[in-house]
Amino acid sequence: MVFLCRRLIEGCVSIIKKNMVASLDIGTSSIKAALAEVTPGREINILGISQVTSSGLRKGNIVDIEGTAKAIDHCLNELERLTGVAIYNTLVGFSGISINTVNNHAVVSVGNPSYEITRDDKERVLQSACNISLPPDKTLLQVIERQYIVDGYEGVKDPVGMVGNRLETEVSIITAASAAIQNMQRSTARINLQVDYLVYNPLLLSESVLLPAEKEMGVVLIDFGAGITEITLFEGGSMLHSSVLPVGDEYITRDLAIVLKTSIEEADRIKQQYGVASPELLGQDSMVAIKNVQGKEIKQVSQQVIADIVNARVIEIIAMILTEIKNHISPEGIPGGIVLSGGGTELSGLVDVMEEHLNTSVRIGLPENLRGLPTEFNRPQNAVVLGGVMFAAQNSRTVYYEDKGFTGIFHKMNYWLRDLFS
Ligand SMILES: Nc1ncnc2c1ncn2[C@@H]1O[C@H](COP(=O)(O)OP(=O)(O)OP(=O)(O)O)[C@@H](O)[C@H]1O
Ligand SMILES: [Mg+2]
Repeated sequence: MVFLCRRLIEGCVSIIKKNMVASLDIGTSSIKAALAEVTPGREINILGISQVTSSGLRKGNIVDIEGTAKAIDHCLNELERLTGVAIYNTLVGFSGISINTVNNHAVVSVGNPSYEITRDDKERVLQSACNISLPPDKTLLQVIERQYIVDGYEGVKDPVGMVGNRLETEVSIITAASAAIQNMQRSTARINLQVDYLVYNPLLLSESVLLPAEKEMGVVLIDFGAGITEITLFEGGSMLHSSVLPVGDEYITRDLAIVLKTSIEEADRIKQQYGVASPELLGQDSMVAIKNVQGKEIKQVSQQVIADIVNARVIEIIAMILTEIKNHISPEGIPGGIVLSGGGTELSGLVDVMEEHLNTSVRIGLPENLRGLPTEFNRPQNAVVLGGVMFAAQNSRTVYYEDKGFTGIFHKMNYWLRDLFS
């Protein structure tokens, strides 16, 4: 058994600074890590992003702890090399097919004789709302305080200090398989990585790609990843429901590999370079050279044939998404439409085909308002990890230190100097 320890990594001169935040997205096809600096004006400066091929995950779940630990370590080493900052602690995004969400509601009467609502009252009503019976193999991952209701008045975000007799709360509770969470914790523990926050991926994604107005009026956020697809409904400013489909974009890749009799790697390349979501979106047909499984023989396949294979799977996946959305809401009744992110979104023509079949507006969600992010890194597959640094920046108590000369973004030398002298 290999034992990896982040403290033995050479070439890094400083641990993560107090005004820096790191984030990790452990996906089925790749692991992404990001490091950012939070300015005193609370702007986020991206200092670096790294990405390595995943190992040991199936449909968002860890099935090989050692392999996942090594891949995480590799990804963080890359980020450390890029920024010159050693990373010992980070936010980690979590998802997978074991995720479930339930909504709950609780009421308490205000204890204080003056009827001023205290932290204690808030804590009591929250605890009561979280008191759901869970099977022993499930663990509560996160609780989202959707709203408080004070004497019948809805839409209160924080009731502490308000006056009222009856305090209610509505919460969304996210649960996951205990084993899935423990496997994640064991993978990070294996490399001595401290996890500051474990957060459900769509909440991170919503930080980077949704506008507050969309969350308020109602929007469906879809993360079309390699192994899974998360569908999350936001309304009234917070998450209302979320589900994880056990299919992702690798479903298309596998089909291409089988029909074209080639390797998964070659099928993925063909999909990315020549794949189109519908043959109707192809201009003129052309022939594509494809290697066989052994990587030697080359045959020619028409782009039309590739588009037909891709389209069959895209239509199937859209049908699954539509069924899931219809279980909770009518697609025509989503004022904010659908926001699509995740690597699978990069398939050419996907937005057009989705709009046609889902009968609502669809837009690609890309992170905004991030300084220092080179355009080539502002891609849908980086949206979760970038949302992670935004989430961490908002939720951590950052401490600032003066560094007047520093201007570098992705400038390793600046970091070396800064780390040596601060
Ligand atoms: N240009 C492109 N065209 C089509 N597909 C693409 C393109 N670029 C990346 N992809 C696909 O995006 C997928 C990876 O997306 P992403 O990184 O969001 O998944 P993941 O986070 O690893 O997996 P998951 O979230 O399902 O656990 C791969 O299957 C890849 O083929
Ligand atoms: Mg993902």
